[in-house]
Amino acid sequence: MCGIVGYVGKKSALPILMEGLKRMEYRGYDSAGIALIQNGKLHIQKQKGKVEDLLKLINHGTPLPDAHIGMGHTRWATHGEPNDVNAHPHTDCHNEIAVIHNGIIENYLALKTKLLQKGHQFRSATDTEVVAHLIEEIYKSTPHLFEAVRLAMKEVTGTYGLVVLSSHEPDKIIAARMGSPLILGIGEGENIVAADAAAIIEHTRQVVYMGDGEVAEITADGVTTKTLKDVEITKMVEELTFDLDEIEKGGYTHFMLKEIHEQSESIQNAMRGRLLEEEGDVKLGGLDGVLEKILNAPRLIFAACGTSWHAALIGEYMLEQYAHISVEVEYASEFRYRNPILSKNDVVLLISQSGETADTLAALREAKSQGATAVGICNVVGSSIARESDGGVYIHAGPEIGVASTKAFTSQLTVLALITILLARRKGMSREEGRALVWELKRVPGKVKSILSNTGQIEYIAGEFKGMRNFLYLGRGYNFPAALEGALKLKEISYIHAEGYPAAEMKHGPIALIDEQMPVVFIAPNDRTHEKIMSNIQEVKARNGRVIAIVNEEDKNITQMADYLICVPQTTDLFSPILSVIPLQLLAYYIAVSRGCNVDQPRNLAKSVTVE
Ligand code: G6P
Repeated sequence: MCGIVGYVGKKSALPILMEGLKRMEYRGYDSAGIALIQNGKLHIQKQKGKVEDLLKLINHGTPLPDAHIGMGHTRWATHGEPNDVNAHPHTDCHNEIAVIHNGIIENYLALKTKLLQKGHQFRSATDTEVVAHLIEEIYKSTPHLFEAVRLAMKEVTGTYGLVVLSSHEPDKIIAARMGSPLILGIGEGENIVAADAAAIIEHTRQVVYMGDGEVAEITADGVTTKTLKDVEITKMVEELTFDLDEIEKGGYTHFMLKEIHEQSESIQNAMRGRLLEEEGDVKLGGLDGVLEKILNAPRLIFAACGTSWHAALIGEYMLEQYAHISVEVEYASEFRYRNPILSKNDVVLLISQSGETADTLAALREAKSQGATAVGICNVVGSSIARESDGGVYIHAGPEIGVASTKAFTSQLTVLALITILLARRKGMSREEGRALVWELKRVPGKVKSILSNTGQIEYIAGEFKGMRNFLYLGRGYNFPAALEGALKLKEISYIHAEGYPAAEMKHGPIALIDEQMPVVFIAPNDRTHEKIMSNIQEVKARNGRVIAIVNEEDKNITQMADYLICVPQTTDLFSPILSVIPLQLLAYYIAVSRGCNVDQPRNLAKSVTVE
């Protein structure tokens, strides 16, 4: 969602802000804007479209001054259509205060009504503009911007990552956070604020994560942080652990393709240092404090969204089969509003790549408010879900830039497999069985590599089917959620309608749709449902359907039935979706590319959904 970056220091602010916005493009957005202060005056440029378009406007239209303080924003529209006026920054009546914002101001109508009565004049249809006018109103009787912003945000309900500039105090940036991430980059004689570490890493590795209900004053020389209740707080400085090349394309045409190809390594990173081969066991330090709770819980509840929800479904299969623990999987958005009945013995596991998804974060808070234990399975280190959980496991996939999640998914599955082995061993799984699983898990990255070393067949199939308007994805057992994920990948990036189903459910509806215009992707490895899925393939063929089958090598039976085959190596059932999803990611990728779609930034989608 919206990207935010602010800079104050000795350097020229504009290139730093533009570069920061470029780095956050992957989050998804529809317009972009910049505000700078020079000679006691605010200078703003903003418009609908890409950062590139904004750059052209600045280079070929009215130039911006060479300032040393400023902020930039990419907007993902919520209130008011994407257009030049609704783009951020928004200003007060006199263009002296500028505001950029990620989130939603829920009480904006009530605030706007009051401010209109006081004579404020609004230009946009956004909720954000209300904040600029509210600060203006309070600033009339409060001498300091820091204080005015703090008091204003006390009147606001909703979520915000907010950055404010005023031409009256041209040496400082004020930032406030409630629900939407903000990170402060601490440099020497310069400081940065951003919604995302990707906009900071080039300048400094030293960061401070702002917490909810905190307001910060940022100057070139330092940062002061207070709570909304006016209590000064000392924040811990932490170090960013990823490298710049991890957020660059490294020779690939798209981030998504790069991230698909990184999976052998990212899966290895998810298990690095965590396998106890001899003992047939697993070590997950982040769970030490909550392990007893998990082992004694009457059930485990997963809450997640999107691709992470699919990972949770596979986690359910893993934990029920191997650790004999009852598991429920919830859409985080439904869980939080359904009045879930929880007790202090329940454990809720939140799966989130970004660790910032608004619904998943709210599910965590709901679980904790009812006394349950919250365990986070996140990728982004220091993210809100990671910090607010009672315990957790990082998946260590590295930065994922492509909007459609790929490597985070397979790393989530790897971590879920680790958790399964850990719990299963404590619930009676023998050392030998544990060893066999650990041994096979170690071989998974090599098997991933072999799939990725031969993608020609998948590219060819993509070419054959790129003109289709619908797809069906079918799988059973562990590979039913993989079918859901395959369908999601295709619709996210190619805009082709696709549905995933448990293969046996096809007979209860989708079979009515089968004809030569509805290709069916079967995930059919040699597992205990193999015979059954072969019957399902027959049923499709009998109705002139065209079948693409993901199979294990040398599956002679399916070779005779399917129209197109994609081979993946065989593995133990619980690891099977880690392998089968890779051709599905590639199929979606190649189809989308051949249709000319922007695979890294698909229309309307955001990488990190920080609004409900
Ligand atoms: C968005 C992204 C998806 C992601 C989902 C959940 O919809 O586009 O790729 O799966 O959010 O995100 P999370 O960061 O919580 O895993």
